Amino acid sequence: MNIPLFEIYNDENDVKFISEEIASGKFWAVGSRISEFEEKIADYIGTKHAVSLNSGTSALHAALLSQGIGKNDEVIVPSFTFIATANCALFTGAKPVFADIEETSCGLNPESVENLINKNTKAIIPVHYGGCPCQINELKDIAEDNDLILIEDAAEAFGASVGGKNIATFGDLNVLSFCQNKVITTGEGGAIVTDSDELYEKLNLIRSHGRWEGADYFSSSGLFDYVDLGFNWRMSNLTATLGISQIQKVDKIIELRQKNADYLSKRLLEETDEVIVPDVPKGYDHVFQLFSIFANNRNELIKYLESNGVSSKIYFHPIHQSEFYKNKLKYNVNLPVTESVFEKTITLPMYPSITTEQMDYIAETVGKFYKI
Ligand SMILES: Cc1ncc(COP(=O)(O)O)c(C=O)c1O
Repeated sequence: MNIPLFEIYNDENDVKFISEEIASGKFWAVGSRISEFEEKIADYIGTKHAVSLNSGTSALHAALLSQGIGKNDEVIVPSFTFIATANCALFTGAKPVFADIEETSCGLNPESVENLINKNTKAIIPVHYGGCPCQINELKDIAEDNDLILIEDAAEAFGASVGGKNIATFGDLNVLSFCQNKVITTGEGGAIVTDSDELYEKLNLIRSHGRWEGADYFSSSGLFDYVDLGFNWRMSNLTATLGISQIQKVDKIIELRQKNADYLSKRLLEETDEVIVPDVPKGYDHVFQLFSIFANNRNELIKYLESNGVSSKIYFHPIHQSEFYKNKLKYNVNLPVTESVFEKTITLPMYPSITTEQMDYIAETVGKFYKI
């Protein structure tokens, strides 16, 4: 067997939607599919607005810019995440400050966050690791008590919820990614969801050269004014078309992910007691963008799986230990839980279209490794 880490869930509708858009021979950059996709995102998550962007990274950057965060400001982030969560602070001239995580959700530990707040702190960016909600209610309270901006990095958690409330509705601004390994994907892409009309307008200007896109810039004879500094961070109309097709099946995708994660967890525990499978807290709806477990002798396990045709990966190497942060930026921080989680975590293949046979093979291969 040869089992990839992930496969993109796709169907005929994806091909039909994008083919029609291509065949139209127009509106490949800007077009009505963008606002259509945005309305569907906002409806699904339950926010007033969604602003699509060309990546989750641009979305994080735009979120900080929209709040005027920059030089001398500090932004509290986890280190156990994709590097964009921290880099977005650097992009604006601000300083990312790393808080530790707790082991159950692998999200920010509220106590660790509280200890880092000082007069320069402007924002907190919690991450919902691999689709598992972090302790977002507690973090929201901390942000409110200290007058800080809360930006949920929900890149990995589209469709997750806590106590019936959707992830990406807790923050002042909430970031989504539609990169290819996410719950739904447009290849590359991202969005910010918010209830604020003011932020919605600012974000529209930031993503498109400070220009208000009321009409189609490319085919309108009208003059477009530039009222602020902005970037070209627009999602293309072609890409948004794929997003519309993907969001139509998101409930099915999540159901399959959860069902498969349950099965794989059960099978792993039947094969070995050398691993710890995800333990989803009560009231948390985990969407399993990643299926990560804790495993003894993790590095040897990765090699053994590879030699037996099973892909795996370590999500994530802590950011504060990267060459860039450690040696170039001279970060010297101590995050005991982050470091111990990193030593044992391994992400196994698990995706909507994975078969029972494939999951049995993964579990049996893990089991065999511990019997050697
Ligand atoms: C937690 C987290 N934040 C931000 C991003 C950045 O998103 P993108 O890859 O769309 O730029 C990712 C994606 O990998 C992510 O996992």
